Amino acid sequence: MRIEKSLESTKEKSRSNKKNRRGKKKSMPSSVQKLFDTCKEVFSAGGAGIVPSPGDVERLQLVLDNMKPADVGLNQEMTYFQRMKSKGAPPITYLHLYECDKFSIGIFCLPPSGVIPLHNHPGMTVFSKLLFGSMHIKSYDWADIPCSSDKTLNPSYFQPSGVQLAEVKTDAVFTAPCKPLILYPAAGGNMHCFTAKTSCAVLDVLGPPYNDSEGRHCTYYHDYPYASFSDLHRNGSPTPPHRTCIYA
Ligand SMILES: [Fe+2]
Repeated sequence: MRIEKSLESTKEKSRSNKKNRRGKKKSMPSSVQKLFDTCKEVFSAGGAGIVPSPGDVERLQLVLDNMKPADVGLNQEMTYFQRMKSKGAPPITYLHLYECDKFSIGIFCLPPSGVIPLHNHPGMTVFSKLLFGSMHIKSYDWADIPCSSDKTLNPSYFQPSGVQLAEVKTDAVFTAPCKPLILYPAAGGNMHCFTAKTSCAVLDVLGPPYNDSEGRHCTYYHDYPYASFSDLHRNGSPTPPHRTCIYA
């Protein structure tokens, strides 16, 4: 595991620095090492649906905010980020940095027009730091629909089977440098879709990570404007703003 190794090499470096440069200040840990150490602390009591405290969220956000492409050995000239001549969707590369049962760290490398389709993060808190480039992000949370005694007003009556109503949380273009985005198990845009406007790299921290055996699958969705389901208007209610129908 690269980060554990880097932890070791940092310790070794620190030891040799002490020997060779006695009296000088200890060397600073690398940004990646700092990220790893902070994640270890922030997600130490983590699990599905467990959100770190606001103080811990802010701490991790700050560490990510200071990270640069060079800290993870990336630059825009690398082949991961080049536009391909072949037809079809440009390939997305995922660079896996670390995973344990509490959290995972990785980087998505997108060439221009690369798309990560709409997907969810069940029970997770996710930090996404755009390291460079410009990216359109559209995110949703499930809409909270109060139940009614009138069955024609209940979601199960007017929603086609398998379709659920969602609310748009974010629909904007982000350009680095910008603050890390944070999503939560039931808020902040737990389902999102990334579209690269230019080549870009996104550093993702997931706590806890996806785990099929624990029921945390990555599900991909299709989204349709609320208005495209005519049955939804049976009761004559107006189209609520920022609402979309989503199905897996
Ligand atoms: Fe994601």
